[in-house]
Amino acid sequence: MEKIVSLCKRRGFIFQASEIYGGLNGVWDYGPLGTELKNNLKQYWWKVIVRDRDDVVGLDGSILTHPAALKASGHVDTFTDPMVDCRTCKARLRADQLAEKHGTQQCPNCGGKDLTEARPFNLMFQTHMGASADPASIAYLRPETAQSIFVQFKNVLDVSRKKLPFGIAQIGKAFRNEINPRNFTFRSREFEQMELEYFCRPEQGMDLLAYWLKERIRFYEEIGINRKRLHILDVPDKDRAFYSKGTFDIEYEFPFGRQELEGVAYRTDYDLQQHIKSSGKTLDYFDEETKERFVPHVVEPSAGVDRTVLALICDAYDEDSAPDEKGKMETRIVMRFHPRMAPMKCAVFPLLKNKEALVAKAREVQALLRSHMNVFYDEGGAIGRRYRRQDEIGTPFGVTIDFETLGEKGEELRDTVTLRDRDSMKQERVAIKDLVETISSKIR
Ligand code: GAP
Repeated sequence: MEKIVSLCKRRGFIFQASEIYGGLNGVWDYGPLGTELKNNLKQYWWKVIVRDRDDVVGLDGSILTHPAALKASGHVDTFTDPMVDCRTCKARLRADQLAEKHGTQQCPNCGGKDLTEARPFNLMFQTHMGASADPASIAYLRPETAQSIFVQFKNVLDVSRKKLPFGIAQIGKAFRNEINPRNFTFRSREFEQMELEYFCRPEQGMDLLAYWLKERIRFYEEIGINRKRLHILDVPDKDRAFYSKGTFDIEYEFPFGRQELEGVAYRTDYDLQQHIKSSGKTLDYFDEETKERFVPHVVEPSAGVDRTVLALICDAYDEDSAPDEKGKMETRIVMRFHPRMAPMKCAVFPLLKNKEALVAKAREVQALLRSHMNVFYDEGGAIGRRYRRQDEIGTPFGVTIDFETLGEKGEELRDTVTLRDRDSMKQERVAIKDLVETISSKIR
């Protein structure tokens, strides 16, 4: 994991938040490449879940949430983790994650065994709205994006005029005051979720749970995650929320162990019923054909953006060997991102930076590609070094403009370039006019 964390900082994927002030624990900033990677992931999710389907619409709910909504959902009273204090070093620890030695729980910081009794710690961040900080002004930063979907169910149903089954999707920030944020971005205090609430008739719930599990596994394969590192956990009854009739966790084999990427849960009608009870409003559905009125059930695939970005980075990281400028083999770090996810799709290099005609042609090719994809221009250093820098950030294609391009080695090669493949390192000669289609067909 150290190699991955170091690459993330060195190449601008992920930085610690407020680093120059000593950092803010459990909070992360995405650098230039991390932002591109994250955007590619979110855009692909949105395409697959919303734009490619007739039965799902989007929502962008607020982060600040009415306390009554989170009281109704159960978060105010029960969204807790068990916490203990170490009396020796004063660390605050999650009781259910403590290692045991000879049957006794130990503090992971100092090894102390003098721990307090576990007590519930609510994970929600509380704030105050307006000028007075009294109990009446309390609001919460949402701990999941799902609740705004349930709260807006009726409005969205009325404006979209969808028939069951249909879904409401949302991508956005969520906040949890985790007792022990850890494993890089895996457990953060501020993170993003991609959630779909798919409403249905009660008798469709179990079938749709199986359907969405399959769809979601396909999604991870389509973004390039190795299927062998994905696992499905059928969450046993005793570990499921009491209202859930079935939950699957999609797990990934991170370097620090097998951990959850996404939960796919059949939540029954629990959430809507809770909001009906608390708000006194009707949040039901009228079936025009059967003339029945009822409260829909829901199946929820809920994925973490940051965890998926981390899985993409861990899955892509590879080391192999490649020749340096003198032909000597050296270790090459290569991020084997699926071209669809790669932050940069193509790098453009003039062979030499002090040959005006090469630079001008390279700028022309950059301008041609730019409106179709994210392009990186680099003219500094030996060409082998430039390839290596792109391999390290996972750019799948490299285009080199050389003397053949200028027609200096025969007219038949004029306006052709070398196109280098990151993974095989093979190079082929391609006409500039065919570049957009050749590359675009592989990054869609
Ligand atoms: N609406 C259901 C829900 O929020 P969850 O299992 O608590 O369910 C869903 O969260 C997903 O959100 C997780 O599978 C994970 O990917 C992500 N997630 C949850 N807590 C997180 C944290 N502290 N840091 C990063 N991602 C988190």
